[in-house]
Amino acid sequence: MMEKTLIIIKADAFTKRLVGKVISKLEDSGLRILGAKMIWFDKALAREFYIEHKSKDFYYPLINFITSNPVMVMVAGGENAVTGSRKIIGATDPARAREGTIRRMWAQDGRHNIVHGSDSPVSAKREINLLFPGEEGIYEWEDKEYRL
Ligand code: RTP
Ligand code: MG
Repeated sequence: MMEKTLIIIKADAFTKRLVGKVISKLEDSGLRILGAKMIWFDKALAREFYIEHKSKDFYYPLINFITSNPVMVMVAGGENAVTGSRKIIGATDPARAREGTIRRMWAQDGRHNIVHGSDSPVSAKREINLLFPGEEGIYEWEDKEYRL
């Protein structure tokens, strides 16, 4: 099924100069980038974005991390984009992530883990609405053949 998902390239990916490589891994998995921009989460937006983790002990450290520096938020689309992107992203904790996944290769630990991907189509919709209100900046483009 054609789906959209919300990807965040987190601040640790910028520090490690891995932004391009992360995008390449996502593109190599068949996803197409439909929208992308840099934002600097403020505390209110971060709390709202991670509301499902409100009761977890890592909630405040997570808010501090996501607001520490700018990030790139992206809408990616494709067949099974939600599960497909999470497959290439890997488990939350890099020590548990499969060989070849983004987090296994590049994440420092289970908090500073390079990239976010929505965990369900319902989450994707909520997250896209939050970060691309009115779908502004999302483009549903098709592949084209360019010839002289
Ligand atoms: P994400 O939402 O970023 O794609 O990651 P996920 O689904 O694999 O993990 P989730 O449980 O949704 O956790 C969201 C983010 O919170 C941080 N975290 N820190 N024990 C900890 O310190 C801890 N556990 C989770 C990570 O940044 C995780 O990606
Ligand atoms: Mg999650």
